[in-house]
Parts: sequence; structure tokens; C-alpha cells
Amino acid sequence: MNILVGYASAHGSTAEIAEFIGKVFEERQMSVTVANVADVQSVDAYDAFVLGSAIHAGMWLTEFSQFLSRFEDHLVKKPSYMFIACIRVLEADGYQHSVENYVNHAVTDRLDIREIHPLAGKLQMNVVDWNDRWTLAAQFDGSHAASSYNNDFRNWDAIRESATHVANKLLAK
Ligand SMILES: Cc1cc2nc3c(=O)[nH]c(=O)nc-3n(C[C@H](O)[C@H](O)[C@H](O)COP(=O)(O)O)c2cc1C
Repeated sequence: MNILVGYASAHGSTAEIAEFIGKVFEERQMSVTVANVADVQSVDAYDAFVLGSAIHAGMWLTEFSQFLSRFEDHLVKKPSYMFIACIRVLEADGYQHSVENYVNHAVTDRLDIREIHPLAGKLQMNVVDWNDRWTLAAQFDGSHAASSYNNDFRNWDAIRESATHVANKLLAK
């Protein structure tokens, strides 16, 4: 079984999550390719997908939506697992909120998405340009200012647990 771990990442931290998931799969002897979705030219070789995006202004990154649309005809026929990296998930209702509001369900309902895993991400305000700072301050829908989440919240144990769970599901097929 060939698996694509495809990611969309503005500042690199979601890319690192995808690479880590790829390593967990490799430890299980799975055949895996980790790639930025914007660079993927064909998905014909893959039997299953793990697809993840950073969240900006309550949405997937544009290249992630474009990937799902470009390859929808293929993706509808194969199992996919999805993850989203954000900071809203850190709040009390964050898991449910991010699944309900940050995922375009009109799109996921058309595909064979088996599970959606919200993961805590990384926000480094010093690398966010002024336009994006404005977007973040104006549109973040949490109960604290987005800038108060200026840290790396990625929990590698939790990511390993999610990746292992997905690997078990894929290998059980
Ligand atoms: C411009 C901008 C907008 C963001 N909007 C949201 C948001 O609406 N909700 C949220 O939970 N996190 C938001 N975040 C936080 C990112 O989702 C988080 O930092 C993520 O881990 C970044 O991944 P990356 O390093 O792969 O780009 C935003 C970050 C930036 C820079």
C-alpha cells in the first residue's frame, strides 16, 4: 500500500508534523511519500492519503483546497485521513470547534475521509508578516488574543499517537 502524506504549511510547522507522521509510518514498514500538496502532480500511485493543512483565518490554506479539488475524482475512491494544525484547538471547546468550523464539510462529505484529527500547531509572531498579523488579530475566533498563543504547542507524543492510530487502521485493511 502506497500512502501520500500531503501537507499545506505557511511557516513550516505543519510540514514538520507531516514529516514526523511519515517517519512513524516508515517505522511500521509502510511505503510513504511526504509532499507539499502544491508540488503533487499525480496521485495515481497512492492507495490511501493522510492530508493536513495549517489553518489561517478559520480555513485551510488555499493550496490545500486546490489539491482536494484537483484530485477529487481520484480521492473519492480512496480512504483519506485528515489533520488540521491550529491554535484554537488549545481552548476548552477547541477540538469540536475546529472540526466543526475549520473544515469545509461540503468538500469532505464528497470524499472518503475516515477521520479528522485537529492538532495543536506552532505560532511564531516574529515570522508572521504585518498583513497576516492583521488577519490573525481581526479574525481569530478564540476567547484569547491570538498573539497570546505565541509558542510551539505541537505535542509530539499526541501526534505519534494519532499517526500510530491511523497506521493501524490502514494496515488493518
Ligand atoms: C495569518 C494567520 C492566521 C491564522 N488563523 C488561525 C485561525 O483562524 N485559527 C487558529 O486556530 N489558528 C490560526 N493560526 C495559527 C496557525 O494555524 C498555526 O500557527 C499553525 O500551526 C501554523 O502552521 P504552519 O507553520 O505550517 O504555517 C493562524 C496563523 C497565521 C499566521
